Amino acid sequence: MAIEDPFVLLFFLLLLISFFSTLIYCTSRVHCSCEICHAYVTSTWSIQFDNLCDWYTHLLQKSPTKTIHIHVLDNIITSNHESVEYMLKTRFENYPKGKPFSVILGDFLGRGIFNVDGDSWRFQRKMACLELGKLSMRSHAFEVVNNEIDHRLIPLVSSFSEKQREDLDLQDVFRRFSFDVICKFSFGFDPKCLDESLPVSDLAVSFDLASKLSAQRAMNPSPLVWKMKRMLNIGSEKRLKDSIKMVNMFAGEVIQQRNKLGSCSNHEDLLSRFMATTKDSKYLRDIVISFMLAGRDTVASALTGLFWLLAHHPRVVATIREEVDKVEALTSFDQIREHHYLQAVVFEGMRLFPPIQFNSKFCLQNDTFPDGTFVKKGTRVTYHSYAMGRMETIWGPDCSDFKPERWLKDGVFFQETPFKYPVFQAGYRMCLGKEMALVEMKSVVISLLRRFNIQLATPVQTPRFSPGLTATFTGGLQVRVSERRGKT
Ligand code: HEM
Ligand SMILES: *[C@@H]1O[C@H](CO)[C@@H](O)[C@H](O)[C@H]1NC(C)=O
Repeated sequence: MAIEDPFVLLFFLLLLISFFSTLIYCTSRVHCSCEICHAYVTSTWSIQFDNLCDWYTHLLQKSPTKTIHIHVLDNIITSNHESVEYMLKTRFENYPKGKPFSVILGDFLGRGIFNVDGDSWRFQRKMACLELGKLSMRSHAFEVVNNEIDHRLIPLVSSFSEKQREDLDLQDVFRRFSFDVICKFSFGFDPKCLDESLPVSDLAVSFDLASKLSAQRAMNPSPLVWKMKRMLNIGSEKRLKDSIKMVNMFAGEVIQQRNKLGSCSNHEDLLSRFMATTKDSKYLRDIVISFMLAGRDTVASALTGLFWLLAHHPRVVATIREEVDKVEALTSFDQIREHHYLQAVVFEGMRLFPPIQFNSKFCLQNDTFPDGTFVKKGTRVTYHSYAMGRMETIWGPDCSDFKPERWLKDGVFFQETPFKYPVFQAGYRMCLGKEMALVEMKSVVISLLRRFNIQLATPVQTPRFSPGLTATFTGGLQVRVSERRGKT
């Protein structure tokens, strides 16, 4: 008992701390008993809706301005494309990522591109643009992607098709796939996550945990709670710290490997470009981690949503196959651009299942949105891509249908303005990996649909999402695969 005493004490101390911090929170933030805030605080929204994003969508659809304010969170959420353009472009300088976020994600992302504003962001963006905008990037991306498909993805899925009755979790497969691809592409390092034995990668596990626990910080009623836990190094904060340590070790290894290759390597990639400009190893680590985050979960999430939709739309699958059969074999990046229907399918999939469902900024100075909403200094401002994909005002009365044709004009792909479709964000901080992501997605769709029939193991009506920085299906995407006869 004597040994345990300090722990008991500590426990009560903590209880006291969290009690007081909740008290501080309750008195400092706006109290609000409006219908929406009440439903939020008491979680009664969950009676009618599977996911928080579905409830927000419902509220946004009903709102005349297509903008809502959750007072208790001091969060303005919009699905109005004029307001989106306003915050991401017209008044970009007034809506930075802001301090509250960079603090929450700081331990994990450090000063990486996702977590900074101003000069540090501008510098990293310029460097990344130079690398990702190169023409040779395209053939490099195509090569890395198709190598991973031929040597890992196809053999793995094929082995499951022989096992007939065994379920395969496609979401897990896509996460392994995109992790290998982004690491090989950006740093010339192969983590081999999609090996046929489906190894448990300590790195991938730690990476997931770090990103999940960082996201959970934002869900605390007050930052005081997690900051206190961090100070005492307990609970989720201890696990976060351990997982970040693991990720750091790996990032350090990657950088060291690169260092050894030194100037004798004529291979140019993102990491070597950054290494030429700085010797700060902590900064390089942050860059490595940001790119892993950028390129992995997003692509996997987009593919998971898309294959769920395809499983429900055999006619679309048939049309993709028709288009693919017209082109003999896929041999280059440029060829993949000729698949207009496939391009439309990929965009349509992300309209309904955007990997990043919503994204927030902070308002620097009092402002007013074009839709009339007053935005007070310090307010969190969010554009909601998931809801925007479900707006009749943007997509018409058939907005909830999966209809790739809406992206085609006389058989040619036609892109909506990114402010109506901010899946890759829009304006000055638009995603830099869009082309890369499209190559990845299209190559995977083509190669899997050519060889396999894919069916859901257990049909679900509406997917449920797990909390995190990117959309993930709770329970994965369990499928049964079989080889298509005559196509192997
Ligand atoms: C379907 C896949 C993808 C989607 C939906 C997507 C979406 C996005 C979104 C919404 C942002 C804005 C995030 C923010 O500012 O908080 C973003 C930024 C970014 N993305 Fe992507 N992304 C994808 C794939 C990729 C890939 C494969 C790469 C790398 C090769 C990449 C690199 C980046 C970078 C570097 C930024 C930061 C841009 C900046 O802050 O200036 N993305 N992406
Ligand atoms: C911003 O708006 C608030 C609320 O209307 C007001 O109290 C405050 O004085 C304004 N601040 C500035 C700098 O205009």
